[in-house]
Amino acid sequence: CGIVGILGKSAVADKVVESLRRLEYRGYDSAGIATLENGHLEICRAEGKLRNLETKLDKHPLKGHAGIGHTRWATHGKPSERNAHPHGTKRVAVVHNGIIENFRELKEELKAAGVTFRSDTDTEVVAQLVDRELLSGKEPVAAVAAVLPRLKGAFALGFLFDGKTDLLIAARRGSPLAIGYGNGEMFLGSDAIALGPFTDRIAYLEEGDWAVLTREGAEIRDETGRIVERAVQKVPAGALLVDKGNHRHFMAKEIYEQPEVISHTFGHYLDLDTETVCLPELPFDPKEVQHISITACGTALYAGAVAEYWLERFGRVPVSTDIASEFRYRETPLAPGGVTIVISQSGETADTLASLRYAKECGQKVVAVVNVPTSTIAREADVVLPILAGPEIGVASTKAFTCQLATLACLSVAFGRAKGVLSADDEHKLVRAFMEVPRLMTEALKLSPEIEVLARTLAKARDVLYLGRGTNYPLSLEGALKLKEISYIHAEGYAGGELKHGPIALIDEKMPVVVIAPHDRIFDKTVSNMEEVAARGGKIILVTDPKGAEAAPVNAVQKLILPEMPATVCPMVYSIPVQLIAYHTAVIMGTDVDQPRNLAKSVTVE
Ligand code: G6P
Repeated sequence: CGIVGILGKSAVADKVVESLRRLEYRGYDSAGIATLENGHLEICRAEGKLRNLETKLDKHPLKGHAGIGHTRWATHGKPSERNAHPHGTKRVAVVHNGIIENFRELKEELKAAGVTFRSDTDTEVVAQLVDRELLSGKEPVAAVAAVLPRLKGAFALGFLFDGKTDLLIAARRGSPLAIGYGNGEMFLGSDAIALGPFTDRIAYLEEGDWAVLTREGAEIRDETGRIVERAVQKVPAGALLVDKGNHRHFMAKEIYEQPEVISHTFGHYLDLDTETVCLPELPFDPKEVQHISITACGTALYAGAVAEYWLERFGRVPVSTDIASEFRYRETPLAPGGVTIVISQSGETADTLASLRYAKECGQKVVAVVNVPTSTIAREADVVLPILAGPEIGVASTKAFTCQLATLACLSVAFGRAKGVLSADDEHKLVRAFMEVPRLMTEALKLSPEIEVLARTLAKARDVLYLGRGTNYPLSLEGALKLKEISYIHAEGYAGGELKHGPIALIDEKMPVVVIAPHDRIFDKTVSNMEEVAARGGKIILVTDPKGAEAAPVNAVQKLILPEMPATVCPMVYSIPVQLIAYHTAVIMGTDVDQPRNLAKSVTVE
């Protein structure tokens, strides 16, 4: 979704729409705007593309000099005018990105206090909470300050208040927000691209920040309420097509935007009200499917390899995952009635496309999990599950990987439900766990400074080994791939149990070993692996949770500690430290992080 806010010198509606158009790439199943007309809040919203909103505005022009706007990819509640943003009451209008995890409890509380809801969104809960504070006599800034600590999740918010023609409030937790400085005008946007037409002076809010904007400028506070300075940078916004934010590389930006983009992916495939998974209509009955083959290349292949565990566990259906360039030539027999899942960020990878065609020839129903919905693979598949990660510029895939995982996790739950393996209750639990992923990712990103220090050791290594079991095994393959791709350090991923069957011969005091191991049912086995490594002088970097950290062998272990979380969401959240390890190491090595040598973003030749 995209957020825009403007405190202007003249009517802002046209500018808000112009800015929303620049954000349309983030999603567009509905759009809306709120302005202050003679000091009073007016909201105009429309389902569908932005031009529907424009048609409405042509009929009923808005003249206010202060406004907020939003384009929406439904994350919660169906795409409809009723659920379009802004949401509000007589006193406040809100635009929002992301997921409010605890919206159900808050909604119950508000309902019990007599509040009636006008939409099915989690956003309206924020509007109603602020409204109640305003009704109790608080000023807008105090009202927002009282509400923010009550919200759980990863999100960005923009507020406009009735009667306050020189005030916008913005808050960032997990989802990015940029503030634009004009001459006697101020702007707010989900990224600098949105603000390109108006100003090139941009400050980016940091995690936990919230800001009070007037035409004079912005007062920014951090999570603790302390007033902070955030550097105003000159961004050549006019020429901007894609924005790096305040990151040095697209890869960093893409790592950091994962809490936001994955909330879009989950929002698309989950109904948060009923706590169920909702996929588009499938061209097969999952109950009848006897075999699934998964095929892809590179990072997408490893997303598939994680999904193999989920599909087998939840769907109790046999799955084989295959490198696309092998699958297509091996001519593996595929019995009719099977399903083939092809995974591709670009949707153009030659070998993956050829595999899709082979699977179709064999009478398989093909599901495409892609980022580019207009791609060849999407067009030729029987059903497309878009991952909604937004454009990925860094050659080394990051956010596409986690959004592929999110999509595949939802598909696996759908299989589990259809096959009767998962009960309704199991499904609700999983959906609740998925809703927590954006917040958990935000927590994981806080490890970045620690990882930066660690990366100094890794940058000196000639080889690095990654170990994991279960779904963390494919994640260790992905970790090794990331490191190779961008730092050019040789790395291998291994299943923990395979250590003894070869790679242990390589271990000495020069060999860092990254162990990806939350405290799960096979953690003890991984402890034995770590002991084997430690006994040979290997340096262990353990990515784990508090319980895992406690149970790990004391010697030779550096720990990166993530919050405890349900096993199913681990591969998504643990991807963040894995990506940051590769990123920081590459930065220290001084390589071309976004365009590593010899690699291409999209490989359309065999
Ligand atoms: C290239 C890229 C990888 C990517 C792979 C598959 O090798 O460098 O990052 O994972 O292609 O691309 P796809 O677009 O099919 O996901």
